[in-house]
Amino acid sequence: MDKLIIKGGKKLKGDVTVSGSKNASLPIFVATILAPGINQISNVPFLRDINTTIKVLESLGAHVEGNGNIVKIDTTGINSHEATYDLVKTMRASVLVLGPLLARFGKARVSLPGGCAIGARPINLHLKGLQALGAEITLEHGYVEARCRQLKGARINFDVSTVGGTEHLMMAAATAKGETLLENAAREPEIVDLALYLNRMGAKIEGAGTDTIRIQGVSELAAADYEVMPDRIEAGTFMIAAAMTGGEIRIHRMKLEHLDALSFKMQDAGVEITSRDGVVMVKGPRRVKSVNIKTRPYPGFPTDMQAQFMAMMCVADGASVISENIFENRFMHVSELQRFGADITVEGSTATVKGVKKLSGAPVMATDLRASASLILAGLTAEGTTEVTRIYHLDRGYESIEKKFAALGADIVRVKE
Ligand code: EPZ
Repeated sequence: MDKLIIKGGKKLKGDVTVSGSKNASLPIFVATILAPGINQISNVPFLRDINTTIKVLESLGAHVEGNGNIVKIDTTGINSHEATYDLVKTMRASVLVLGPLLARFGKARVSLPGGCAIGARPINLHLKGLQALGAEITLEHGYVEARCRQLKGARINFDVSTVGGTEHLMMAAATAKGETLLENAAREPEIVDLALYLNRMGAKIEGAGTDTIRIQGVSELAAADYEVMPDRIEAGTFMIAAAMTGGEIRIHRMKLEHLDALSFKMQDAGVEITSRDGVVMVKGPRRVKSVNIKTRPYPGFPTDMQAQFMAMMCVADGASVISENIFENRFMHVSELQRFGADITVEGSTATVKGVKKLSGAPVMATDLRASASLILAGLTAEGTTEVTRIYHLDRGYESIEKKFAALGADIVRVKE
């Protein structure tokens, strides 16, 4: 297993380019199941989760060339309708294959994903929506069995805003008979990217990015090429790194409008953020000010940036209150940040962070994808050396992050443990 060794204290300077979005690529890869043919997907990040999704598609009979930047997916030969436990447990998003398999073949058998470090992650709203479209759903031996000769359009209202649930039902409804209305839909930019790809395949989807999505079912879709949007969470992570180290960086190929909630909070903390000709400049102050945040569905503050923002508040001037309202167990990074000397107390879903002048480097352990990022950020600013182990969590969602940070002047290396 690899680990990262970081010598803190360097101000980050220079240019960095954001990779394609993991959370847009995954559903777009799954959507290729909806039609036979060859799809060329570009700006795909080289990530473990991408490799896992490719394995899932190949286990169904698809033929895939490449695993990053350009990926060619030929779904003509799909001949299995089952996604097994060993693949789905590796990456929960694989459960999204259920709807497209059902829409194209009339049946599907997919392992229930189970929970993960940050929460139970149920899929009840996915299944309820598929049933509303006419699917017969049975759960047995840890698998979801779904059958339906022809899905029919329906009005679906989500109890809670769910990114995966919205994506799942948008894909299933694309070739359902008649119109489908998704109300209280999630509004994340990754959902807009998926809708753009589905419409490129011939779907008729309107309203993606708002809380009401209208889908006119079409009789068939066709394979299509697509360029994935930039990864807004990777971009946000670099923005925080510049702010925490008092550095000044230019971030290329990001869309600042995807991160309004984060950038407004960072500006409240005294960080300078400007955008010109598609390049975003981020300049950190000598010391950031403390700011309170509450995670919310988009366009609110993104839960996927909570751990990184908390790392920044650990060295802020003052106390900040951070409430996590999306997942029930997304403070796993707190105990690791405390090893750096951070002053954090947790009460239920609220963490109070009292900024300290300096963190001190320490051996720490990654627990989940975004928590790993927060430990690197703390290490970049801490005095002395930090070792981060179990960074396979990191490799799920960040493409060569240590190389990108090193190119910005950080003293960070990956070594075999
Ligand atoms: C997506 O997960 C992202 N993953 C997550 O990013 C992100 O944190 C999350 O959306 C929220 O923005 C991908 O896109 C692959 P949800 P998803 O369904 O779709 C509850 C990362 O770090 N819920 O929006 O699984 C659920 O328990 C990952 O890249 C139900 O109750 O999230 C949660 O409390 C982590 N029933 C809330 O909704 C359901 O059927 C939001 O979950 C579905 C969800």
